[in-house]
Amino acid sequence: MTARRTRLEGLLARSRATVDALDHLVGGVGTGILALTALLWLAVVALLCLVGVGLPMAPVALRGLRVVADRERVRLSQRDPELVGPGPPPPGLRAALADPGVRGELGWVVCHSTLGLLTGVVAMSLPLAAVRDLTFPLWWRLLPPGEAEDAALNLWRVGDQRSALAVCVFAVGWTALSLLVIPGLERLQSWPGRRLLSAPPGGDLALRVAHLTATRAAALDAHAAELRRIERSLHDGTQNRIVAVTALVAAARRAVARDPASAGEILERAQGAAEQALAELRAVVRTILPPVLEDRSLADALSGLAAACPVPCTVTADLPGRCAASVEATAYFTVAEALTNVARHSGAGRVSVALSLRRDRLLVQITDDGHGGADERAGSGLVGIRRRAEAHDGTFMMTSPPGGPTTLKVSLPCGS
Ligand SMILES: Nc1ncnc2c1ncn2[C@@H]1O[C@H](COP(=O)(O)OP(=O)(O)O)[C@@H](O)[C@H]1O
Ligand SMILES: [Mg+2]
Repeated sequence: MTARRTRLEGLLARSRATVDALDHLVGGVGTGILALTALLWLAVVALLCLVGVGLPMAPVALRGLRVVADRERVRLSQRDPELVGPGPPPPGLRAALADPGVRGELGWVVCHSTLGLLTGVVAMSLPLAAVRDLTFPLWWRLLPPGEAEDAALNLWRVGDQRSALAVCVFAVGWTALSLLVIPGLERLQSWPGRRLLSAPPGGDLALRVAHLTATRAAALDAHAAELRRIERSLHDGTQNRIVAVTALVAAARRAVARDPASAGEILERAQGAAEQALAELRAVVRTILPPVLEDRSLADALSGLAAACPVPCTVTADLPGRCAASVEATAYFTVAEALTNVARHSGAGRVSVALSLRRDRLLVQITDDGHGGADERAGSGLVGIRRRAEAHDGTFMMTSPPGGPTTLKVSLPCGS
């Protein structure tokens, strides 16, 4: 029984990895088309340079290449460690062509516009073939005479509904092939970009330091904001209640001699106020580091959040181990803020939270089917998520077009 369940869980995890990889491969087809356009443009400019009229256009073409390569850097950074690009190319065409960063981009544009595009198209065609064969019995009669017969790879003739139904078997094969090869195709597609688009070793240190300085400042800001928030909630909530308790106890003391009956009533109010103060103190403590993370796993802690969310929420977690406590706390607060936003602003009917661990990075994705239009600049919650993620050297991405859906993706180095 447990062996079967483990196998089922393995299959589910593989399916999720395949869907994720396919999503990434489709994005790769988009940048592949951009890369192909850039390559053709570069080829035209190079030809024009040979006849002498292309030289003024060359810097513009290289700038266009940088824009396309930056798009790919952002795409690759969504799943894996962030790719920090090289600094601006040196002025002058000759110096720019000798620059390792520009050379890397030229190499990448050749690979990605051919191999990258091809792997993406092959990967997309596998699940499409599965859908085609699965639905074959529904539409095979619409095919021109003669064509339907080939649908079974000449293994049998498709002439009636039974033989058409048998074609569905191929869908199983296509699905199995998809599960088997799509994650590999995704790695193959990203490989040239990862190798060629990162800044050359040593050269990127200055950029890296600048990036870390900025994120450290953001981390300190986030920390100060957090302290202010805790101070405010202690001041406005707990402290006020305790002031009320002391005032009530003082009133009760005065009343004891004069009117013992009313003293009892005042003490009862004091007790109520003390209990409220305690409840608020507990709530504040919970927002500092949720105790549930201490006792149980991140997935359990998030299931607790999902259960408390007024919008139906599903949590899927594919986490073989635990991450550093601060990373888990960041993931927890991200989901807590995202679910609060879904409940308050989105008008969604469903929300899903997915957690996975890839190459030592914890990926958290929250998707709701609401009306979209989330704007980081309109409040402090989403900016807080970004700051917390960047303080961990992680990334935060949000897509929320008008009409929805809204997706938040946070990727954090696991740190364990
Ligand atoms: N899931 C969502 N769906 C639709 N709109 C959202 C969503 N999340 C946030 N928003 C919009 O983005 C704004 C900024 O969100 P946030 O930074 O969390 O601030 P706050 O929640 O304090 O208003 C919100 O005011 C809301 O209009
Ligand atoms: Mg909010």
